[in-house]
Amino acid sequence: MKLTPEQRAQFECDGYLFFPGHFSPEEAKALTDAVPDLYSKRAAFNVREKGSDAVRTNFAAHLISEPFARLARHPRMVEPVMDLFGEEVYMHQFKINGKMAFEGDVWQWHQDYGTWLNDDLMPTERAMNVAIFLDEVTEHNGPLMFIPGSHRKGVVDAKHDLTTTSYPLWTVDNDLIRQLVDRAGGKHGGIVSPKGPAGSMILFHSCLVHASGSNLSPFNRVAVYLSLCAVSNHIRCHKRPEYIAHRNFAPIELLPDDCLLKPYPVEVPWKNGLPESALQTSLEVLDTAEA
Ligand code: SIN
Ligand code: MN
Repeated sequence: MKLTPEQRAQFECDGYLFFPGHFSPEEAKALTDAVPDLYSKRAAFNVREKGSDAVRTNFAAHLISEPFARLARHPRMVEPVMDLFGEEVYMHQFKINGKMAFEGDVWQWHQDYGTWLNDDLMPTERAMNVAIFLDEVTEHNGPLMFIPGSHRKGVVDAKHDLTTTSYPLWTVDNDLIRQLVDRAGGKHGGIVSPKGPAGSMILFHSCLVHASGSNLSPFNRVAVYLSLCAVSNHIRCHKRPEYIAHRNFAPIELLPDDCLLKPYPVEVPWKNGLPESALQTSLEVLDTAEA
C-alpha cells in the first residue's frame, strides 16, 4: 500500500494520517481476542495503572502472541511507513494500551521522540507511530488528542515525569502546550481527536505532541501502538530493557495481506516468559561507526 501525493502532503502539514476502518471487524477481532490472555499475565511486560490492577500498557506482544506477531508484519501497516521513509523499518516498540473502562488514566502531553532520544539515543526522528484501535474510539473513552502541525517544531523542551502516572514519560509543560494549540488554531482545530471503529489506524509523526484524558466511561479503549524506526536510525543505547526498546534492528519481513485471518507461521520467542536478557539494561553508548 502506497500513500498518494495528497496524503504525503497532509502528513507533512498535520503530522498524522487517519484511516478509519483500515482493518475489518474480523481482523480487529483476531487481535482483541488475544488481549485478555496477555493482560492476565503477572510479568514485567504488563504495566498496571497506579493503584489499580487494570493494565495500562502491555509491551512486546509481537514476541509473545501469534496474532500480534502477524500484525507486526502486516503490509497494510508497514508499507505506508516504508514508503514515507524510503527505507526498510524495524520494530522499536510494541505496546497494547488498555485505557480500560473507568480505570484508564491520563497520558500527559508528550512527544514520543523526546523519550526515544533521551532514553534510547535514537539519532533522528525517522521513526513512526502507528495506532490501531481494537475498540471503537469515541469522545467518551479517552481518545488520543493531537496538536496538528506540532511535529514541525522538532524536539521541544520536556521534563521527566516519574510521579503523575505509573509510567515515566518526558512531558511538555502547560505554557508550551497553550502556545502550540494557539498556533494550530486554538479553539478551532488546535486539538484534534481521531475517532472511529475498531480496526481504524493512525500514522503519527514521532514529534507530534499528543496526550489523552482518563476513561470514565464503561467502554474499554484498547489500542495497539507500534513504533517503526528506519533501520539506519536504530537506537544507540540500551538504558531501557529490551522488552520496552527493542534491539533487533533487522528489517521487518512482510506477510501477505490476509495474515490476520490465516494462521501463517510466525516466531514468538518470548511466549513462555521474558528471557533474563530482556530485562537487562546498560548505559554504554553503542559504536556508531557503521551508521
Ligand atoms: C501514548 O502516547 O503512548 C499512549 C497514549 C494513549 O494510549 O492514549
Ligand atoms: Mn506517546
